[in-house]
Amino acid sequence: MKTCRFCGDNIHEFLDFGKQPIANAFIPPEQVGGDEYFFGMRLAFCPSCFLVQLVEQPSREMMFHENYAYFSSISRYMAEHFRRFALMVMDSYIDDDPLVVEIGSNDGIMLRNFAEAGVPSLGVEPSANVAEAARSRGIETICEFFDKDLAERIRSEKGEADAVLAANVMCHIPYLDSVFEGVTALLKPAGVLIFEDPYWGDILEKTSYDQIYDEHVFYFSLTAVSFLAERYGLEVIDVQPQPVHGGEMRYIIARKGAHKVSGMVEALREKEKRMRMGDLERMREFADSVARSRDDLIRTLTDLKKQGKRVAGYGATSKSTTVINYCGITTDLVEYISDTTPSKQGRFSPGAHIPIKPYEEFAAAYPDVALLFAWNHAEEIMKKERRFMEAGGRWLKYVPKVEIS
Ligand code: SAH
Ligand code: TYD
Repeated sequence: MKTCRFCGDNIHEFLDFGKQPIANAFIPPEQVGGDEYFFGMRLAFCPSCFLVQLVEQPSREMMFHENYAYFSSISRYMAEHFRRFALMVMDSYIDDDPLVVEIGSNDGIMLRNFAEAGVPSLGVEPSANVAEAARSRGIETICEFFDKDLAERIRSEKGEADAVLAANVMCHIPYLDSVFEGVTALLKPAGVLIFEDPYWGDILEKTSYDQIYDEHVFYFSLTAVSFLAERYGLEVIDVQPQPVHGGEMRYIIARKGAHKVSGMVEALREKEKRMRMGDLERMREFADSVARSRDDLIRTLTDLKKQGKRVAGYGATSKSTTVINYCGITTDLVEYISDTTPSKQGRFSPGAHIPIKPYEEFAAAYPDVALLFAWNHAEEIMKKERRFMEAGGRWLKYVPKVEIS
């Protein structure tokens, strides 16, 4: 039996996605047909600390490197989200001699707001290409993986931090003990760690199984995060649900007793009990819903093909890699995927090798149906795709259920 990556107790596997490639490893044409890395993607639950986790994860260097495909600033909506995040931090959590450190700062989508306000900040970003994009915007960035040693180096060179921020990265890091020790060492006595990640409660409720892929080694709930925090003398002082990335939770964490604890924390703890977040049987029900969702999607795509409809994917997300490979979608069912990210265009999707085409090709000859892989950006996309819909184009969605609209 395998053991929990955090607390060491026995974990229970409840969902097997079979062999999966690196979710963001979009393949250049000359490498199609060459060796491609796959790993067995299985999900497990720890009944002691409630951490939902991947049993196996590829090495960090295979996922985060100088050709990392995800540039955060591609979405205007996310830029606005991080502007508000930064304002909240500046309003509530910095003193007269501030320092803000961000883990996984990518192209500077969050820190640019501190730079513009003249608040000293430092990014930690191991993927060299996105780190370079941040630097070119004048944002100081250390191109390394965050851990305890680096945290201590930052403290000795820059002093203690008012806030350590992390968006969509804490769930990527398997060695949470080193991260939490580092953050605790880096923070001022009243400093805060604020992080947000896809919320396991949303994934359960929406059957959004496409949040499960190589980078996401952990799927957090408040119960699990409280367990982590306590180990380091910390506590969750607030929780704030976020509508981005299909449903996230923001956790604000501080040294025990340093801040007042919001009533939202107890309310969410109670809600998680009602949602049976500690119940292995609930995890098994989720696994059944995932299998049903896959069957519905394949049936719908096969029917569309029989009707002679052209189907294209919309958004070559990391999430789509799980859906495509788990459901067995090929170019037979989805002709190509449209994406606005230049570094993905002209490449092929990991595993199934569906071509990624520039958005302009989608707009120049609309397919009959667009399979919405970037469903987490639906609001932004629906606003700008009126012409597609007026031309008779339809959307195929699979979260929370498979349907054509
Ligand atoms: N915070 C951004 C980027 C999220 S993608 C946003 O929310 O849009 C995750 C980022 O974390 C990637 O840029 C990746 O290179 C970086 N990353 C992965 N492991 C890391 C680690 N151990 N320390 C710091 N950054 C890490
Ligand atoms: P996203 O859902 O943010 O990330 P993840 O990789 O974590 O699943 O990725 C959105 C992708 O969709 C990104 O490659 C850009 C693309 N995209 C479009 O092609 N058009 C759009 O209008 C938007 C918002 C995104």
